[in-house]
Amino acid sequence: MFGAKSFSCFTAMAAALVFILLNVAMVCHGGKTSSFIRKVDRAEDMPLHSDVFAAPSGYNAPQQVHITIGDHVGRAMIVSWVTMDEPGNSLVRYWSEDSPHKKELAKGHHVTYRFFNYSSGFIHHCTLRELEFNKKYYYEIGMGHTIRQFWFMTPPEVHPDTPFTFGLIGDLGQTYDSNKTLAHYQSNPHKGQAVLFVGDLSYADNHPNHDNVRWDTWGRFVERNNAYEPWIWATGNHELDYAPELGETEPFKPFRHRYHVPYKASGSTEPFWYSVKIASAHIIVLASYSAYGKYTPQYEWLEAELKKVDRSKTPWLIVLVHSPWYNSNTYHYMEGETMRVAFESWFVKYKVDVVFAGHVHAYERSVSATNCPLSTDDMHLI
Ligand SMILES: *[C@@H]1O[C@H](CO)[C@@H](O)[C@H](O)[C@H]1NC(C)=O
Ligand SMILES: *[C@@H]1O[C@H](CO)[C@@H](O)[C@H](O)[C@H]1NC(C)=O
Repeated sequence: MFGAKSFSCFTAMAAALVFILLNVAMVCHGGKTSSFIRKVDRAEDMPLHSDVFAAPSGYNAPQQVHITIGDHVGRAMIVSWVTMDEPGNSLVRYWSEDSPHKKELAKGHHVTYRFFNYSSGFIHHCTLRELEFNKKYYYEIGMGHTIRQFWFMTPPEVHPDTPFTFGLIGDLGQTYDSNKTLAHYQSNPHKGQAVLFVGDLSYADNHPNHDNVRWDTWGRFVERNNAYEPWIWATGNHELDYAPELGETEPFKPFRHRYHVPYKASGSTEPFWYSVKIASAHIIVLASYSAYGKYTPQYEWLEAELKKVDRSKTPWLIVLVHSPWYNSNTYHYMEGETMRVAFESWFVKYKVDVVFAGHVHAYERSVSATNCPLSTDDMHLI
């Protein structure tokens, strides 16, 4: 399945692992890679006063800082953050490590939204463009009030022989276990350079009235990693936030305002399905909870997108989707079936290398599979 490319992965707990692309000989570390055993008790959300939710000090200090790739090839970065006291400005000052005196200024914009009786802070999004590949950049936000400084590395230029290390996290939430997952990922010696996030971010919808304060706490919680490395977002069922009983009938409203992705760069019309190319990988993000039947925008986009994949430039073709097409657990069993029926033959035709999914909170992987009987007996779980 992986041809001359090699594949090695290091599993962490629940849904976090580091995934490495190396273009050397075939190595595959199967078996047990972690001593972690999940406790059986239901995970408990960290209380609002937890250290990881503390807002940064200072008037109107930027919080919930997060970045994602801002174009189709990794030469741009979207920087997002929230100010709570007043709009402030959406300026980002940035410079490369090589030329600390050549500071650039980019201007973004801010949005706000209401959800039932919750009013968001001022959510800023600013895209830094024409960055150099494989370079460390520092950036500052909060000019005029409280300035905070962060940094990131741009990915290397798209090239078939360029190695890259992805982290893989899904269904993170904000429980004590979520905190352990993030700490585990960050302590992995095989440092991830970007996170592939397979949906289900904050689980704010588990709280009364989908308490959107829990979107804010989540943003503050993951900032310690997400302000420094891009997370590639896919949406899960916990991003739907469809609540007609609260008068909220616009699906994905909090996600759409808070998490911007470069969907237009890949010809998509919605931020829920899109693609990015990073190093030697072409990554396609699909949306389990947006329409994907024949004639829908997602269907037509994917049909066209798969034809654009150039394996001579990006030998790896990776798909992220929330709901798995194969699942031997009773929980969420067959929820991914209709999408499998819609798209699996294309994945075979275009030789997708690996599909990462979340949703089921149990680690499971299989050899390449297609059109498997529903018993999954023949699926070769490994
Ligand atoms: C929203 O409504 C709930 C339930 O009535 C209440 O507990 C909460 O304090 C309200 N929040 C705001 C921000 O008004
Ligand atoms: C979360 O994890 C970090 C890093 O390990 C730790 O410093 C912090 O105290 C933890 N917080 C909670 C509430 O578990």
